[in-house]
Amino acid sequence: MKILVTGGAGFIGSNFVRHFLQNRPDDAVLNLDKLTYAGNLENLDSLRSVSRYDFLRGDVSDADFIRSVFEKPFDAVVHFAAETHVDRSIAGGREFIESNVLGTYALLDAARRARVQRFIHVSTDEVYGSLQPGETAHENSPLQPNSPYAASKASSDLVARSFWSTYRFPVITTRCSNNYGPCQFPEKLIPLMITRALRDEKLPVYGDGLNERDWIFVEDHCRAIETLLTSGRPGEVYNIGFGEPVANLEIVRALLRSLNKPESLVEFVADRPGHDRRYALDTRKIRAETEWKPAVGLAEGLARTVEWYLSHPGWVERVTSGEYLNYYDKFYTRRRATLAEI
Ligand code: NAD
Ligand code: TYD
Repeated sequence: MKILVTGGAGFIGSNFVRHFLQNRPDDAVLNLDKLTYAGNLENLDSLRSVSRYDFLRGDVSDADFIRSVFEKPFDAVVHFAAETHVDRSIAGGREFIESNVLGTYALLDAARRARVQRFIHVSTDEVYGSLQPGETAHENSPLQPNSPYAASKASSDLVARSFWSTYRFPVITTRCSNNYGPCQFPEKLIPLMITRALRDEKLPVYGDGLNERDWIFVEDHCRAIETLLTSGRPGEVYNIGFGEPVANLEIVRALLRSLNKPESLVEFVADRPGHDRRYALDTRKIRAETEWKPAVGLAEGLARTVEWYLSHPGWVERVTSGEYLNYYDKFYTRRRATLAEI
């Protein structure tokens, strides 16, 4: 099978591409990514000479370009590409609407016209909004997004839904909880805290630090997507999560302990506007319909994540200095305008 992966240079996308090619020796991936600040091709360095892998730079919201990509045949699309950081969406949401809503529409439209047989639309638990203690969101819970990021993802979910209702286009929407693991850009909670603590910098905890997220190790998310690619039912939505919401402060303290750094680094700062208090998912559907279940517990996942950041100081340094942004120009000079080659 040949799949088109969008956003494959980002955190989850790059973990997915590596996982997929490792596990499926007969399959091939074209990674299409705009390379925003969040795209880092160094994450896929190990695949540079793999013939089943190719990279194409491009914007999913450029409808003409996306239509031309589908002149080549693909068996499936896995759509990760998106603007993803809540704080950036609060500062300004236009790019979120362009990439996440218009981009998803352009991709769905082109994939449908090209009669692609399976489309995984990767969404998030943030579309359900903030939940009460003890409450969990199931796939039919109301969409109540609170940040411009969450609103753009909820909008794209509704577009995806309409492609099934209207055209019977075989799209599957996944809503996963907060991911963590190797190659996550250090603007998100866990890598931000690890990289700052390593430099003995203060760790900014929003509000009282008691907001809860259901952290899932990125590899478990990647396995869930691979499973749904082959075994998910078209037109359906699947929640994906670990199942144990944990307070931010608990995560930060666990990271400090494993890095052997003092708790005095924690600094409580002004809360994020519209900050969702609690995310929690009902994941019975994917567990009942497929073999998937998460395999990596929080303690193991955090230890593996800390170990990855400790053993990749060069990656951290190039991301922090901005040098990673030159990777494409350095290594992909022959790959400009490669549409004809893919
Ligand atoms: P990320 O920010 O690390 O990476 C996003 C990637 O998309 C980058 O490589 C970026 O260059 C690319 N991109 C952005 N706009 C694009 C455009 N217009 N055209 C082409 N490429 C574009 O994101 P991530 O954390 O890996 O998240 C991937 C997907 O998973 C997103 O759709 C996100 O909503 C979803 N998700 C993320 C989490 C999480 O905890 N990180 C949880 C659930 C769902
Ligand atoms: P984040 O990683 O931005 O993911 P999301 O907002 O999409 O869930 O944030 C996770 C939690 O950590 C969220 O409750 C906000 C909080 N947070 C902080 O307390 N300090 C920070 O510097 C950041 C980035 C997040």
